[in-house]
Amino acid sequence: MRALPSGLSYLCLHLFALCYYAQVTNQSPPNFTQHVSEQSKLTDRVSRRLIRIYQLYSRTSGKHVQVLPNKKINAMAEDGDVHAKLVVETDTFGSRVRIKGAETGFYICMNKRGKLIGK
Ligand SMILES: *[C@@H]1O[C@H](CO)[C@@H](O)[C@H](O)[C@H]1NC(C)=O
Repeated sequence: MRALPSGLSYLCLHLFALCYYAQVTNQSPPNFTQHVSEQSKLTDRVSRRLIRIYQLYSRTSGKHVQVLPNKKINAMAEDGDVHAKLVVETDTFGSRVRIKGAETGFYICMNKRGKLIGK
């Protein structure tokens, strides 16, 4: 995997899977800022990284998510389009997920305004 450039104003999309059980549903909502900051510090040399290639289908557009060479991301790709091939990487037992376009190598990221971009 390519190292992501640091110090940029872009925050890469790291999806942190959380498990909450029925017993906490009455409590205040989870502090995601704290959770993400704690999970980011964990180094996990035990669990295997899993890398798979997927297409992500959008029911809204009826097409697939694609990462384009101009770093734009949309869900307008036909089935089998080369830009619709997405590499999904997980580590730490799947609690973190990174998604990048297989063709362009750009990760699906968000800028500070929450807009999707390739980076
Ligand atoms: C969430 O956690 C962060 C970091 O620990 C803290 O700065 C922030 O005040 C917390 N927010 C809430 C709503 O508790």
